[in-house]
Amino acid sequence: MIRAGIHGATGYTGHELASILDRHPAVEIAFGTSRQSAGRNLADLYTQGPDLPLIDPSSAPVGEIDFMFLCLPHTEAAPVAVAALDAGARVVDLSADFRLRQAAEFEAWYGEAHPHPEFLSQAVYGLTEIARAQLAGARLVANPGCYPTSVLLALFPLARAGALSGSVIVDAKSGVSGAGRSPKQHLQFVEVAENLSAYSVGRNHRHVPEMEQALAAWTTQPIDLIFTPHLAPVSRGLLSTIYASLREGWDEARVRETIESTYQGEPFIRILPDGQHAALAHAAYTNRCVLGISVVKGVALLTSALDNLVKGAAGQAVQNANVMAGLDETTGLV
Ligand SMILES: NC(=O)c1ccc[n+]([C@@H]2O[C@H](COP(=O)([O-])OP(=O)(O)OC[C@H]3O[C@@H](n4cnc5c(N)ncnc54)[C@H](OP(=O)(O)O)[C@@H]3O)[C@@H](O)[C@H]2O)c1
Repeated sequence: MIRAGIHGATGYTGHELASILDRHPAVEIAFGTSRQSAGRNLADLYTQGPDLPLIDPSSAPVGEIDFMFLCLPHTEAAPVAVAALDAGARVVDLSADFRLRQAAEFEAWYGEAHPHPEFLSQAVYGLTEIARAQLAGARLVANPGCYPTSVLLALFPLARAGALSGSVIVDAKSGVSGAGRSPKQHLQFVEVAENLSAYSVGRNHRHVPEMEQALAAWTTQPIDLIFTPHLAPVSRGLLSTIYASLREGWDEARVRETIESTYQGEPFIRILPDGQHAALAHAAYTNRCVLGISVVKGVALLTSALDNLVKGAAGQAVQNANVMAGLDETTGLV
């Protein structure tokens, strides 16, 4: 049995992860932490929460686990990750702490110096379908952000094939759980219900450098990324609508064939038939990323739906851990 610890078990991603690992046949949850709810049980905090006693992070028996999952805010996760690595555990970090390669870029986007820049070069960016070979031997995995997972899985086949030219425009919508469980005024029911609002428009969202870093590794074509996320009045789910300019010679049949052949046999990528586009309901409560494909006037119009808490966070973290541990990648996941 693999012994796993979860830091930040009471947050939305922590609860989702604890629920998945609770059903996982090869994993035993050794502990879940919370500063504010230590001494309580996760089942008392969430109506459908698994039976998991919560302990203070300072008393986590880090030397007794094989895998550490970090569901903490950015900059909080890095020191915990380093302590776990020192104790011999393998780490899957759901925060943004190890996603960017350059410490200066982290500081520019996250407003603080990186707590452990020396680890940035050894972290594997865990977009599972693309990174399997590196994941197998990885000790530290940076789980991708929810928006980047949806956008990058859609664009990877075209970027790698050299199909993209110039601009990529992403119009994305996320459910409110994407912002975490801490109360904030703009996330209250009255503000969100029956509403739809853009935020961090253009190039202001922290996921922009993460997406550009990955795209730059896959294509030599310069790409202008414009990304506008929206807060949608649903609890979970994420839909990205992507408009990507294509180079000469790329029509719909070639785009579809390229994406379908890239993901042939992938258990968690579903490509919709001609004429259909992705909706939140295609992926809700699953580890799937669901893609729809059209080409209009030389522009690939891709829709990409996933559940931000599953494929966008906890599900992909377990998928990565399965690969790291040499298990069937789908174990414990639907
Ligand atoms: N929500 C998503 O859809 C999503 C998707 C992908 C990635 N992520 C990333 O995953 C991480 C966790 O996100 P989340 O949505 O689960 O967050 P959340 O709901 O706000 O939960 C945060 C967790 O971290 C703990 N914590 C420890 N130190 C904290 C601190 N200084 N401030 C606040 N909480 C602290 C909290 O419990 P205590 O306060 O009791 O210790 C709680 O268990 C974040 O880095 C986020 O960016 C989230």
